[in-house]
Amino acid sequence: EGLFTYDPGFMATSSCQSAITYIDGANGVLLHRGYPIGQLAEHSNFVELCYLLLNGELPSQEEYREFEANIRNHTMVHEQLANFYKGFRRDAHPMSILCGVVGGLAAFYHDHMNITREEDRRISAIRLIAKMPTLAAMSYKYNIGQPFNYPRNDLNYAENFLYMMFSNPCEEYKINPVFAKAIDRIFMLHADHEQNASTSTVRLAGSTGANPFACISAGIAALWGPAHGGANEAVLNMLDEIGDESEENIQRYIDRAKNKDDPFRLMGFGHRVYRSFDPRAKVMKETCDEVLGELGMADDPQLKIAKRLEEIALEDDYFIERQLYPNVDFYSGIILKAIGIPTNMFTVIFAVSRTIGWISHWNEMISGEYKIGRPRQLYVGYNQRDYPAK
Ligand code: CMC
Repeated sequence: EGLFTYDPGFMATSSCQSAITYIDGANGVLLHRGYPIGQLAEHSNFVELCYLLLNGELPSQEEYREFEANIRNHTMVHEQLANFYKGFRRDAHPMSILCGVVGGLAAFYHDHMNITREEDRRISAIRLIAKMPTLAAMSYKYNIGQPFNYPRNDLNYAENFLYMMFSNPCEEYKINPVFAKAIDRIFMLHADHEQNASTSTVRLAGSTGANPFACISAGIAALWGPAHGGANEAVLNMLDEIGDESEENIQRYIDRAKNKDDPFRLMGFGHRVYRSFDPRAKVMKETCDEVLGELGMADDPQLKIAKRLEEIALEDDYFIERQLYPNVDFYSGIILKAIGIPTNMFTVIFAVSRTIGWISHWNEMISGEYKIGRPRQLYVGYNQRDYPAK
């Protein structure tokens, strides 16, 4: 009793066994079911990656067609959910709306479910993957006061998301294929990252037997913080604040990040596991160049600030000694902004992407042997004492 390992932040604790994702932080390697993220980003697409993460193998053509059709079939959400949105303040952060409505899905889709049955877990997974873009786009529409769009099942996953975000009844919305490809890639690059804070939260919530919609809602809450999924929003706010690309201005922010008396950190830099380049950041940077190039925005001031910031940081001893490199979120915000997605939706898009990772881990846990997650503590409070006599 009492001799438990003290490991704040779980720096040295493996909380589970998992066969989904492998990270070699020292060498910048990220594999999903054995396949390197760079190869997947180049040759696969988000829906195929969902299949792979969930099932362990790439699908045959037939399996892919069936899986994709199944997702398309479940994109619509119960009509009553629209009322749920209307209870929020118009300016509510879309992440707060998402925490609520995703948890609320349990009230519509969980009644007759038994999570010990594989087909029940599977349909929950399909529903979550299919409905997240719809719910996300609805949170944006609610914010800007436009009518919700129903999903269009003639469109693919990324196109459908763009359509639901940007189409309105007054004018035809033409989906830009460059945007659709970029969004699909952003979904892929955020799809899973083993036992990060939000995935661990989903597993912990799931270990109590809670329903999958509630567990994913817990994951969304954990993702929201600026040290995790909120970083992409924080990067853009930081680039806005830096404002101009002059050398002395950028250096001022680098110096602030190094100053231990200043809480400012270089957002989009550093990672608990990667001690070299985040392999997702490499692909993200390329995608950013591609998208802005095709849009004729290669001179975008924020892109220039980001690139210069990266160059200066990578040559600075502070960042070198601490092995701080750009992470996946350093460039994703610039792409999302170029597509026209407002900053407060960035973390929502991360949540849409990560849903497959969360649900795959939840499914892996429930289908194997597991125990309720119950960490211990080092008690540092008072010894027993008597209540003062009155
Ligand atoms: N800017 C300045 N200094 C930093 C930064 C940064 N972005 N990140 C870490 N450090 C310093 C930190 O001050 C500490 O220095 P010292 O040893 O002198 O005290 C050292 O590097 C180690 O940092 P840590 O906070 O102990 O490392 P951690 O593994 O606990 O934190 C992190 C990882 C991602 C929370 C952190 O690097 C950070 O806050 N980065 C900025 C936020 C960010 O970009 N988050 C997105 C992560 S990737 C996407 C995701 O997972 O959602």
